[in-house]
Amino acid sequence: MDIDRKARAALKRQEPKILWFTGLSGAGKSTVANLVDARLHALGKHTYLLDGDNIRLGLNRDLGYSDTDRVENIRRIAEVAALMADAGLIALVAFISPFRRERTMARGLVGPGEFVEIFIDTPIAVAEARDPKGLYKKARAGQLKDFTGIDSPYEPPQAPEIRIDTTLTSAEDAAEQIVGFLKLPG
Ligand code: ADX
Repeated sequence: MDIDRKARAALKRQEPKILWFTGLSGAGKSTVANLVDARLHALGKHTYLLDGDNIRLGLNRDLGYSDTDRVENIRRIAEVAALMADAGLIALVAFISPFRRERTMARGLVGPGEFVEIFIDTPIAVAEARDPKGLYKKARAGQLKDFTGIDSPYEPPQAPEIRIDTTLTSAEDAAEQIVGFLKLPG
């Protein structure tokens, strides 16, 4: 018998998914994704979180922030996430992923219902006020080019499976909502 994705997922007693977090820099994608990851892990689910720390420093360290490089960044991440789903995992993906076209491409790599687009919706004014890494300040001062929301575009999702308004919802409540959406058996 060929070992296919169904067999691999069945062994893990879970349905493969890609949980795709998109939003501005400083929106809270990583924070929420980490909380979801911890909850799923505690429920015995096999997950893997892809984020800037493990992708932009490794596989994609040759890429910067031009439109072309962002497209390639997301293309590679989508392919890696799709392989992880094929292996039976729940892949969590937390990148700005500013372009609709690439997010749609990522969705097309897995089966119906397997791609969950999660819009971490934080207004730029709020993300800029937080500015955890001081990057907005640098971008406003002209020291950082092609910064998302300032001189590089962000195309918000039109029909995400989940939208989190972070001005109204805490990270913990957001994580609970996302895990609830997955309707995990038992
Ligand atoms: S994406 O657009 O290609 O999806 P990605 O999520 O990998 O972006 O990287 C975004 C992170 O890189 C930001 O949260 C920020 O910390 C850092 N960064 C550095 N330069 C930029 C820039 N020009 N625009 C946006 N983020 C940047």
